[in-house]
Amino acid sequence: MSLLSFLIYVPLQIAFMPLAIVGVILVAYRQLVVSKRLGVSQTAIEVLNGRWTMHIFGLRKDPATAKLAASLPNTSTTGLWLALFPLWIKFKLSGKLFLYPRIPEVGNEGLGEIIVVRTLHFDRIIERAIPEVEQFVVMGAGYDTRAYGDFRRDGVIYYELDQPNVQKHKRTALLNAEIDSDHVRFVSVDFNTQNAIEQLVITGFAPSKKTLFLLEGVTLYLTEDDVRKTIREVRDYAPAGSILLADFYADRFIDISKPKAVQKTLDYTNERLGFGLPLATGYEQVLRDFVESENMSLGEAHFMGSSNDNGPFMVVAELNW
Ligand SMILES: C[S@@+](CC[C@H](N)C(=O)[O-])C[C@H]1O[C@@H](n2cnc3c(N)ncnc32)[C@H](O)[C@@H]1O
Repeated sequence: MSLLSFLIYVPLQIAFMPLAIVGVILVAYRQLVVSKRLGVSQTAIEVLNGRWTMHIFGLRKDPATAKLAASLPNTSTTGLWLALFPLWIKFKLSGKLFLYPRIPEVGNEGLGEIIVVRTLHFDRIIERAIPEVEQFVVMGAGYDTRAYGDFRRDGVIYYELDQPNVQKHKRTALLNAEIDSDHVRFVSVDFNTQNAIEQLVITGFAPSKKTLFLLEGVTLYLTEDDVRKTIREVRDYAPAGSILLADFYADRFIDISKPKAVQKTLDYTNERLGFGLPLATGYEQVLRDFVESENMSLGEAHFMGSSNDNGPFMVVAELNW
């Protein structure tokens, strides 16, 4: 079946090329230009598109993302289908992932797999941690749907934090997609200028209750001072036994935004890259030192791209206190 799927895939991909190009242009236009016009995050759309793809290719059940993507004006599920249809047919025929999306061997992850791999790492830790907590706070939530799918639990109170424009836009899209969000408390916050937990407390967050904080795909857009400030707020206001899950990026990853073209794309929606850790040598110790410098201890840590001579380019980490 694998050979047959390949024989069908190759001519289909060639015939589909013009449509695939239209699809890519459509997605890129909506992500960049429409996000800019709406004053919302285009990088959050990048993540949503990755999770939509994971859902379509059976890597992760996420009907809320599929519904949300279909109702958002700043992405295009038609464009995504046009770009990915031949690969999807090949996957359906062979039952195997090919080129994209795919799950690489540990250590050999590349930049193209970042959303897939990091999402699965976070999912696994959330699954393990959620029975231990009473509150789940998604920080810099973007279009994350963890509160609307398999991680929804009775007895857990859900919070989402984000910048006002992004949050307002997501809430409208949730409504349009008929996704129930009555159980989620939305809190507008700017991590650069506000105390995240003080804003949470206003909406009923209980500092005495064990909490799972998720800070996914956010630290790289903040300065080191603001990352440390946010970590400190979480540690100071939530009891021992709470957990902060975050991803941190290597300074060499942050440097990829230095070429003018990349910087221009990020500047377009004011999403310049900021904080990175020097992960080139002794990366496990570097991460541990960073975590311990904020009086926390390191739980699970999953490095991506660690087989590279320059060290991993990112890590998904569990911070405990
Ligand atoms: C790449 S997206 C990740 C979204 C989401 N965590 C996910 O994984 O789907 C980054 C998110 O961080 C938010 N963000 C960036 N800087 C922020 C700040 N200073 N205060 C609050 N949110 C911020 C953006 O609005 C955006 O939703």
